[in-house]
Amino acid sequence: MGELDGRVALITGGARGQGAAEAALFRREGATVVVTDVLDEQGERTAGSLGCEYLHLDVTSEEQWQAAVDDVVDRHGRLDVLMNNAGIFKPAQLLNTPTEVWDQTVAINQTGVFLGMRTGAKAMIEAGNGGSIINTSSVAGLEGVFGSTAYGATKWAVTGMTRTVAKELGKHGIRVNSIHPGVIATDMTEGMLDDERGRKMIDRQPIRRVGTSEDIAEMALFLASDRSSYCTGQAFTVDGGLHG
Ligand SMILES: NC(=O)c1ccc[n+]([C@@H]2O[C@H](COP(=O)([O-])OP(=O)(O)OC[C@H]3O[C@@H](n4cnc5c(N)ncnc54)[C@H](O)[C@@H]3O)[C@@H](O)[C@H]2O)c1
Repeated sequence: MGELDGRVALITGGARGQGAAEAALFRREGATVVVTDVLDEQGERTAGSLGCEYLHLDVTSEEQWQAAVDDVVDRHGRLDVLMNNAGIFKPAQLLNTPTEVWDQTVAINQTGVFLGMRTGAKAMIEAGNGGSIINTSSVAGLEGVFGSTAYGATKWAVTGMTRTVAKELGKHGIRVNSIHPGVIATDMTEGMLDDERGRKMIDRQPIRRVGTSEDIAEMALFLASDRSSYCTGQAFTVDGGLHG
C-alpha cells in the first residue's frame, strides 16, 4: 500500500533536482506522476527511468498550462496533487539586478505558480475529489537573503499567494501549502557552496550539512498525502535550522 495510491500528480521543473526526487518518491508511493519541464531530453530520461510520464510545460505560458492539465485530466480523469517546483535563481543585489532578470524571475517563479494554481485548481474542482497544491518557496520567502532581490521578491510572493489561496480553496477540499528549502545541493546551487561564504552559511546551521533533494521530497510527500489532511495555508521549512 502506497501513501499516494490512486492519486495523479503533476510536477513542474521535474527533469532534475528537487522535482525529480519528488517524482521518484510520489511514484514509489503509488501515484501516477506526470513530470513536466522545459528540459525535454532530460525530462523524458528522468520520467522514463522512474516509470513516470513526461510533458513539455513552460510554466510562464498560460496556453501550455491549460494544455498540460487538460492532457492529464483527459488521460487520467483527475488531478490530485499539483507540485509547483520549477524555479530559477539568478543572484544579484538590487543595484546590479538587470530588469530582464527581474522580469524573467517573476515570470517563472511567481506568475508560473499563479497560472499553475489557477489552472490546476479549476481541474481539481471539476473532478470533485479535492486535492493538494504544494508551492516551492524558499527561506528567501521567509527572511531577507543578501543578494537575492528578484528571487526573494518572488519567493515572498509564493508564501503570500499560498496563504491567500488556501483560504479561497478550502471549501473545495483543496489544501495549499508551501515548502521552504534552505541550502539544497542541486544544479541551482552548483559552485555556490564551495567558497568561504557557502561554508560559513552551513556552519551556522544547527544541522551542519547541505540539504538533499530527498530531504525536500519527504516534506512534499507529507503535504501531498492524507497525513497532512488538517494542514493548509502553511509554510513548511526544511533547512537544517538555517532560518530561525
Ligand atoms: N537548491 C536550493 O538550494 C533551493 C533553495 C530554496 C528553494 N529552491 C527552489 O526549489 C525549486 C527547485 O529547484 P532545484 O534546487 O531543484 O533547482 P534546479 O535548477 O535543479 O531545478 C529547477 C527546474 O526548474 C526548471 N525550470 C526552469 N525554468 C522553467 C520554466 N520556465 N518552466 C518549467 N520549468 C522550468 C528547470 O529546467 C529545472 O529542471 C525552485 O523553485 C527553487 O527556487 C531551491
